[in-house]
Order: sequence, then structure tokens, then C-alpha cells
Amino acid sequence: MMESLSRNFINLHELEKAKLTEILSLGEKMKANRNSFQDILDNKSFILLFDKPSTRTRISFELAISELGGSCVFLDMGTSQLGRGESIKDTAKVLSRYVDGLIIRNANHQELIEFSEHSSISIINALTNESHPCQIMADLMTLKECFGSIEDLNIAWIGDGNNVANTWIQASTLFNFKLNMAIPSEYMPSQTILDMAKQKKSNINISQNIDDVIKDANCIVTDTWFSMNDDENEKSEKIRILNEYQVNSDLLEKAPVDAIFLHCLPAHRGQEVTDDVIDCDKSFVYQQAENRLHIQKAILRHCITG
Ligand code: CP
Ligand code: NVA
Repeated sequence: MMESLSRNFINLHELEKAKLTEILSLGEKMKANRNSFQDILDNKSFILLFDKPSTRTRISFELAISELGGSCVFLDMGTSQLGRGESIKDTAKVLSRYVDGLIIRNANHQELIEFSEHSSISIINALTNESHPCQIMADLMTLKECFGSIEDLNIAWIGDGNNVANTWIQASTLFNFKLNMAIPSEYMPSQTILDMAKQKKSNINISQNIDDVIKDANCIVTDTWFSMNDDENEKSEKIRILNEYQVNSDLLEKAPVDAIFLHCLPAHRGQEVTDDVIDCDKSFVYQQAENRLHIQKAILRHCITG
């Protein structure tokens, strides 16, 4: 029987580049041999504890666990006793006695940290207001498939400075690829994450000059202008300000001819991206979504069996 561990997967910067590279390579192997890893999570069980909607993350984790021989239960935070005010501490301590890992999607990153402080099992971040590490691992896997390696790439992020943007900053800091970001000054990424990137002398530039940001890009990335954790009262103003940051065919034409397009999905077609971009042959969004399944298997293996 394999050794059992309880490692967390909360933010990319908590792992070494070598470990992330190993996880990426394993994800590639698992994709190439989908049926060859069926006992990795034998006798292991998980709870997906979500307080936000999900299609890709929920289904890819449920399938990943099942294909690796484990089992999982989905628990909606709102209809659990957490929704009636039971403490995170009590919940974490009880659930730690049932399963080997909690895969959590919640609005408040600090609450995820609180879960990890009171749990004796693996905690995996399935998206918070701060970050989305499993997503960016799938994105890095997709870049490796398209370009062979990550380190020398020039990635252009266009749009909101949200949780996904924060995680791209962490990835760029670790892998040292060039990350040029076009983000309005009102919607900048986390200052704490930017400060950490600066300390590590990362290769990141943020401006409001979109043409400049994409002119040498190998890959153009965007995400919704209105995230699940955003304030509904600020929606119309935010969309108004981000309107000029739309990834459309006029913009794509200003990028190098072999640049690709990525989006974590769900897309708001006609807002951050137009149909002619997301549906064109430079768009790898469905491959990117598929890779969630494969890379999450590798993340689960890292957390549970090392
Ligand atoms: N990209 C992503 O996390 O999608 P879901 O919200 O559907 O899980
Ligand atoms: N930034 C988006 C990502 C969705 C996968 C959100 O948090 O809603």
C-alpha cells in the first residue's frame, strides 16, 4: 500500500517550481494513459465542500477521484450546518475524521486557511476570492502541450485583476515566464501577491496599454469581468470600465500570428471575449478545460500519496 500523506494545495507559491513541474509531467502521463492509474486513491475519500456554482471544477474532481479508485461526496456549504452558523473549526475537525481530503470552493480565502488550520487532512483550493491554483495548473499544462515549455513564453493577461489573474502572477513568479497584464487601475490584482512577486524579481508588467501588452504575446488570456465573489452593486460600473479590454478579432490581429487564446471558462461571450475569438482555431479553451481532469489527478496524488 502507498504511503498516505495530507498535503495541502492552497496557493501555487507554497510549492517549489520542481514540485509543480513534477505534477505537470504526471498530469501529462495521466492524460496519455487515462486508465493506468486506477488504484492511486484506493480506500481514499474526499468531500467537495462548495459554496459557489461550478461545472468544470466539480465534475473534473469527481471524475478524477473516481478514475483513481477513490470516492467523494459533494456537500453544498449553504445547506450544511455551516450555512446555519456551525464553526469552521468544528466542521473541519469532524470532517477530518471521515475523509482524507477536503476540496473547497468558497468566497473567503481566509476561511479556507481556517479550514486548513483545524483539519488533519489535505485541503485543496477549488477557487477562492484570492486564487484558483488548480485552474492555472491546467493552463500551464495546456501551454506545455502547445509550446513544449513554459519558461520562455510571453503571456498577455487582458481584463480584470481577479483571482485567476492573481494565480497567473504566482505562476509567472515561479516559472519566470514573461507576464504582461493589461488591467484597469481600478481593478488591480492583490497587492500582497504583487509585492511577493516583486520580492522574487519576477518578470511581470502591468499597464493600461493593451496593444503594447499583446504585441509580443505567445498566449492571450482573459476571464470574466464579473467574478462570483464580486459585489453585484458594482457590476454595471465594472463592466463599463472593462469594456475596452475585450478580446476581439481586432485585438487578436495585433498579436503575433501564432499566438493562442486561453480562458478558464465560463465565458461571457460578447463581454470579455467575442465569439469569433473563442471559436477560432487559435482558441484552446476546451483542451484547457479537459486538462482540469488530468492535472487534478496529479494534484490529488501529490496531496495524498506524494
Ligand atoms: N474554470 C472553472 O473553475 O470553472 P467552473 O466554475 O465551472 O468550475
Ligand atoms: N474569476 C472567476 C473564475 C471562474 C472559474 C470567478 O471567480 O468567478
